[in-house]
Amino acid sequence: MLPMDPSKRNSFEQHICEEDLVIVYERHDTMKAIKMQKGSVFQNRFGIFKHSDWIGKPFGSKVLSNKGGFVYLLAPTPELWTLVLSHRTQILYLPDISFVISYLEIVPGCLVLESGTGSGSLTTSLARAVAPSGHVYTFDFHEQRATLARDDFVRNGLSSLVTVSVRDIQGEGFPEEFCGSADSVFLDLPQPWLAMPSVGRMLKQDGVLCSFSPCIEQVQRSCEALKSNFTDVRTFEVLLRTYEIKEVRMDGNGGGEGSPLGPFPRKRRQCLSGEGNNGRSMEQTTAAVMVRPSSEARGHTGFLTFARLACI
Ligand SMILES: C[S@@+](CC[C@H](N)C(=O)[O-])C[C@H]1O[C@@H](n2cnc3c(N)ncnc32)[C@H](O)[C@@H]1O
Repeated sequence: MLPMDPSKRNSFEQHICEEDLVIVYERHDTMKAIKMQKGSVFQNRFGIFKHSDWIGKPFGSKVLSNKGGFVYLLAPTPELWTLVLSHRTQILYLPDISFVISYLEIVPGCLVLESGTGSGSLTTSLARAVAPSGHVYTFDFHEQRATLARDDFVRNGLSSLVTVSVRDIQGEGFPEEFCGSADSVFLDLPQPWLAMPSVGRMLKQDGVLCSFSPCIEQVQRSCEALKSNFTDVRTFEVLLRTYEIKEVRMDGNGGGEGSPLGPFPRKRRQCLSGEGNNGRSMEQTTAAVMVRPSSEARGHTGFLTFARLACI
């Protein structure tokens, strides 16, 4: 997922090798992570694909099945991994993840503490953000979740950037060995206020904390706990609106008006068909690119509370 040598970055130049993890992309909501193994096949409604036909192809390739159907073979980035990982818990999604990484000021070389690890969705992006010289120490009190997350980081080639440990962070706090050394701390815990005194000890002067909570009552208690030694306390809710984009043929009455979701705002484009090339005796149809807010847009996920350790 994240080769350390920048010249080997996943890109259209990099070729798929045996044992590589590949994201098989049918469409934005139908993807699967597959490990390449000679002799194995991938099967979907478009037919059968042999892994051996995929090995050696560049990431980004469009490949055909025995029936002429196709899929794309994409490099496993943290963004795609978040969409295909196995959900062992609620996870953070990209709108929250990208905001967290920016607002926590995470850059290569940072030391980041996280709890709980959960399904490792956020951890995967944290790892890429701190690479190649930083490190993420992530803690979960659930032993099996910690083990499965560790296995995923090995599969994704991130194990040199992430250490997963089993620990009750609300009860015990972060290990004292990290005292004063964390650039940032992220909490996704049911009672984050219990961990906040420990977070205050772990952060470097000027370091930043983020706590994710689904309920506003949790935010209120957290902000109360942050009053004593944090400053610049701010809470955000990140809402994303996605759009559907479709190209449709229009009839003379301006098609699309009868859609149950109403007409699309649109830009028209003239398409000419028939004989001749000078516009005479040509049948005209109109194609329109239709764009409208998606009815599947994700709503509330949670609140992100950020605070900076007060300088003494
Ligand atoms: C919602 S999940 C975290 C999801 C994660 N942010 C992601 O994006 O995949 C919350 C995790 O916190 C863990 N947890 C709950 N209480 C804990 C505690 N006291 N100490 C450590 N981990 C805890 C749970 O086991 C669970 O895996």
